[in-house]
Amino acid sequence: MQATNAKLRQGRGVIEHYCEYLPVSDSTPIISLGEGDTPLLFCPQLSKRVGHGCEVFVKNEGVNPTGSFKDRGMTVAVSKALERGATALICASTGNTSASAAAYAARAGISCAVVLPAGKIASGKLLQAFAYGAKIVAIDGNFDDALRIVRELGERGDFAIVNSINPDRIAGQKTAAFEIVDALGNAPDFHLLPVGNAGNITAYWAGYRAYNAHQRSTKLPVMLGFQAAGAAPIFYNRIVETPETIASAIRIGNPASWKQARAAIAESHGAIDIVSDEEILAAQKWLAQHEGILAEPASAAAIAGLFKCRNSNEAAYSFQKIPDGSGIVCTITGHGLKDPDIISQRMKELEPVAATVTDVRRVIGL
Ligand code: F0G
Repeated sequence: MQATNAKLRQGRGVIEHYCEYLPVSDSTPIISLGEGDTPLLFCPQLSKRVGHGCEVFVKNEGVNPTGSFKDRGMTVAVSKALERGATALICASTGNTSASAAAYAARAGISCAVVLPAGKIASGKLLQAFAYGAKIVAIDGNFDDALRIVRELGERGDFAIVNSINPDRIAGQKTAAFEIVDALGNAPDFHLLPVGNAGNITAYWAGYRAYNAHQRSTKLPVMLGFQAAGAAPIFYNRIVETPETIASAIRIGNPASWKQARAAIAESHGAIDIVSDEEILAAQKWLAQHEGILAEPASAAAIAGLFKCRNSNEAAYSFQKIPDGSGIVCTITGHGLKDPDIISQRMKELEPVAATVTDVRRVIGL
């Protein structure tokens, strides 16, 4: 069958859907992989565990084309870069931005360089950057060092930077908030998400406000952001020189959108809190085994954060402040398959048995 119409050829992505809210015009070449329109899943087990008559939803961004929320911002950043005549992209990354940038650069037919902290990228994400044909540079340093180098290279004009310091990235990522309001008919009461470089919390808050200003919602959510305890500069209000966490996506010590994240939290009367690596891994396992959603560790930080609000008097925002019957949305920012090494330890325990019904019944425990 011949795709006769330009829209069919492009696939329907967030630019086409939300163009009136985005910095695009008829002369913007749309580079899309059909990102966005991700499921907002009601989670019955999670709602039950939280209790208080709350309804908990998960916005599953892991089902975007490269498996993370970055694709929403990348379609806008790459389309705008192309409109301005860019021939090469560059980004620093803890993994997902590089996977997304590499894919959208391939789609646009331009080159892409990614600067990564050596040995700190989840294997699925690194595999993606190779597969999409990016020029990969691993540095002896962390994400914050990588971003410093990328800023300098971008200033020289050789590359278009597609990190979230590029406002086109934030503009595109706002569309996740639009979709949530469109699905629920209004903004939720609470929005929980992991925080790393702090672009996404900035984007969600901007999106909720923009939609509210256009009378698409009658309220704004309370924003609750969660950092890993070993990489929590915003929570502690100081730069962390050597951030450490199993959630490598949010292993960041000096977030670029620090001030904007603080503003989002203050304006929404929300909070920033920390969760331990143990809490993150327990939440990842719980969500997979009770709701069928496999999140990467960074994403599970939002679920760990929800449990902390529920259980702990030490939480920055405890359930004493969350009214009964609240509508709660947690963003699952990336797919669990990107970081298989975390789970693969359990697979090593698998022992083969004889190919007989008797042996199989015995192992199942029948
Ligand atoms: N969750 C995942 C899966 C991420 O990849 C990131 C950031 C975040 C949460 C935090 O979002 O930075 O907007 O606060 N990943 C970036 C990257 C830093 O390079 O892929 P943020």
